Amino acid sequence: MDTPSSRKVSNFTLRDADESDYWFVKKLYIQTMKPLLMKLDAWDETDVINKFNGHYKLTEVQVILVDDRNVGWLQISETAQEWELAQIHIEQEFCSQGIGTQLIRKLMKEAQKKGKSVCLSVVRGNPALSLYQRLRFSIIGEDEQKLHMRWDSDLSMEP
Ligand SMILES: CC(C)(COP(=O)(O)OP(=O)(O)OC[C@H]1O[C@@H](n2cnc3c(N)ncnc32)[C@H](O)[C@@H]1OP(=O)(O)O)[C@@H](O)C(=O)NCCC(=O)NCCS
Repeated sequence: MDTPSSRKVSNFTLRDADESDYWFVKKLYIQTMKPLLMKLDAWDETDVINKFNGHYKLTEVQVILVDDRNVGWLQISETAQEWELAQIHIEQEFCSQGIGTQLIRKLMKEAQKKGKSVCLSVVRGNPALSLYQRLRFSIIGEDEQKLHMRWDSDLSMEP
């Protein structure tokens, strides 16, 4: 598996989130989104939290653990045609160690088995864009704040 990192974490696990995870999830979301939105002059904490609450769906959320420590979370929504990687956030000290690549590849493989595509959105200026491009997601749309991307599983290539 090609990750850009020399320190690769492979001993991470996932568990379904429960109600007690809400504060960890929200705190990490704010921590990662605030600098990105501030750079776009688009940080409005009340608005961001309202939108977060509107999209947060406990049954779609999984927590990422390394050695039993919560280090991140992701939210995946499924529709008839596609899976949306609605959120993925990893604590800074665990970034760039291959966790994101492994999780997204796993999602792509599962989507491919079901003949579905995978979509996501990324805030402009987020270095995560290069990761998604490396995984062969294409930009299919954009708005003032975000680029919308999709990977089509009917591409005959391996995820
Ligand atoms: C984006 C993210 C999930 C990727 O997971 P990861 O485990 O760090 O990724 P990998 O180690 O597999 O791959 C490294 C790539 O991740 C991206 N990345 C690394 N650190 C990042 C950070 N702090 N913020 C955003 N992207 C980052 C870069 O594209 C990097 O590739 P590069 O070294 O060529 O620039 C993770 O970095 C993260 O949670 N970042 C902060 C929150 C965020 O931006 N979430 C995505 C919202 S669309």
